[in-house]
Amino acid sequence: MEILNTKVNLNISTGRLTGEEVLNSKKFIKDLKDVFLNEEVRGSLAGDELVYEVQAYLPVEEGKQGGLFFGNSTVYPGRVDNEYYMTRGHFHENFDTAEYYWCVQGEGMLILMDEDRNIRAEKMQQGSLHYIPGKVAHRVANTGTGKLVFNACWPSDAGHNYKEIDDHGFSARLLEINGKSALITEI
Ligand code: PA5
Ligand code: NI
Repeated sequence: MEILNTKVNLNISTGRLTGEEVLNSKKFIKDLKDVFLNEEVRGSLAGDELVYEVQAYLPVEEGKQGGLFFGNSTVYPGRVDNEYYMTRGHFHENFDTAEYYWCVQGEGMLILMDEDRNIRAEKMQQGSLHYIPGKVAHRVANTGTGKLVFNACWPSDAGHNYKEIDDHGFSARLLEINGKSALITEI
């Protein structure tokens, strides 16, 4: 019987993945045109400021039914004007596919929007587990002063649909108002 070491390891304290097959991608301020409410301020910030990074382990072909993918995302602390650094957010291409997020470190908010554009948010803190149902767009904002790190697991046939959010955005934004975070729908 062959006993193997795994190809990928997860540091359960930091949420980080290591292994040759782990993919890494970074989103800098310059990559996030029109994502934040105040595009003028975003354009005036240093383009090479890192907003978030994602590690992904895709053990099967993307689009294959029945497989699972695993990720680690880090959203750095910061704001564009009074809007927290956050991920672009997306629906899944294969619309009715769910996903788990769980927070490893930091403080944040998971912003969820259903197909009728109804918004809700869940607080993220170490150990919070978030079930994101199918047909629900998801985005994460860092409301704290340190890194916000979360892991994710999603079906290999989910895909990412960014177009809907690029075209119409979310129907609410998480802003810092008088030192507190507030989900603002009327902007
Ligand atoms: O699969 C997911 O939902 C996550 O791994 C996200 O892709 C990640 O957090 C980055 O967010 P986005 O894909 O919206 O840029
Ligand atoms: Ni997703």
